[in-house]
Amino acid sequence: MAVSLVVVKEQGDETRVAATPETVKKLTALGFSLTVEAGAGEASGFSDARYQEEGATIASSPASAIAGADVVVGVKAPSDATVKAMKKGALLIAQLNPYQDADGVKSYAAQGVDAMAMELMPRITRAQSMDVLSSQSNLSGYKAVLDATSEYNRALPMMMTAAGTVPAARVFVMGAGVAGLQAIATAKRLGAIVSATDVRRAAAEQVQSLGGTFVMVEADEEDSGETAGGYAKEMSADYQKRQAALVSEHIAKQDIVICTALIPGRPAPELVTTEMVEKMKPGSVIVDLAAEQGGNCKLSKLGEVSHHKGVKIVAHANVPGRLAGNASELYSRNILNFISAFYDAEGSKLAIDWEDEIIAGIGLTRDGAIVHPALAAPVAAEKAPSKDNGEQNAS
Ligand code: NAI
Repeated sequence: MAVSLVVVKEQGDETRVAATPETVKKLTALGFSLTVEAGAGEASGFSDARYQEEGATIASSPASAIAGADVVVGVKAPSDATVKAMKKGALLIAQLNPYQDADGVKSYAAQGVDAMAMELMPRITRAQSMDVLSSQSNLSGYKAVLDATSEYNRALPMMMTAAGTVPAARVFVMGAGVAGLQAIATAKRLGAIVSATDVRRAAAEQVQSLGGTFVMVEADEEDSGETAGGYAKEMSADYQKRQAALVSEHIAKQDIVICTALIPGRPAPELVTTEMVEKMKPGSVIVDLAAEQGGNCKLSKLGEVSHHKGVKIVAHANVPGRLAGNASELYSRNILNFISAFYDAEGSKLAIDWEDEIIAGIGLTRDGAIVHPALAAPVAAEKAPSKDNGEQNAS
């Protein structure tokens, strides 16, 4: 019998969807039986009719489809009702935010659901096509520059006109990872003078190859600023002090600052202080892509465009969701690539190998237990009787 897969409609103001007509067609061709919750693709521009054309069944009340599903896919964690409707042994695949949502993880284990958190995908070559953080960050970096330009009351390129010259805008990108590099490329294409900084020394060459100037504090000794996994690490207090002095001086001359600096598993580093904002020219714009992780700018207010002494601080939530069409297409392909890598087409069944580095990296729960090494200990400890534990976590 075909493996049944349900695509849920996202909750709240999430605009993305975990499957598109294109991936529905491919999954159906692989032998999956697809059900899409009615309206799931609407905010991304994909109608129910398009999903139907590619072989999906549309469900207005998906509870019975979910109850029979072998796989449920989503963008973010599904509702409690969805989890409770799932059958034992079914797969749940979404960005499940496990470090912040211990209750959710417990509920997957309690339901006997095998939950996979896509954002924990290991950064290995084989998993690049399944890497949701990269696919979504790339779009965020692009959109951050567009958001900045629409808030900025001047032009980005230099223009020579009969009435005089319009100078090129100066754009400074903080954090030159996936989002930052796309922001640099986008700002360059729009004609800005671009500079960037990062704690990882390896980022310098990438910034320069995109035509940006690299601004960096030299770290002590042989410190490359990154972990063995290629991510940034938290720098020493002395480094942070020297970085702040350099940034403060540089930022005062900028028109637009795009903040993208993150450290996995930690709050975002605070790189732009109130004093630095106050040194910027009136009319300047800061876009803080790290706002959901606490923000790189001290004054960012998540979900708002705020003003401080003439400087605009843009801190939209869910920036990839502001380009929902492309974000859904790329996310859905990440999901498709992941599912097809663990599918036995000849036997028409899933072939989840818990010894595989990918499954070990993203698998949270299995057979009623929390199995992810980074979660098993603390979440299990919370199981100890505590009368107000549930209430605290529910907030
Ligand atoms: P991220 O989203 O975790 O962080 C964004 C950037 O902020 C990083 O470049 C980081 O070094 C920088 N940062 C952190 N703290 C900072 C500070 N205090 N000041 C200035 N910058 C700071 O990182 P992202 O974009 O996910 O990528 C990190 C690395 O992983 C990059 O080298 C990227 O090329 C690599 N990568 C590898 C992949 C693979 O091999 N499959 C896939 C995607 C990325």
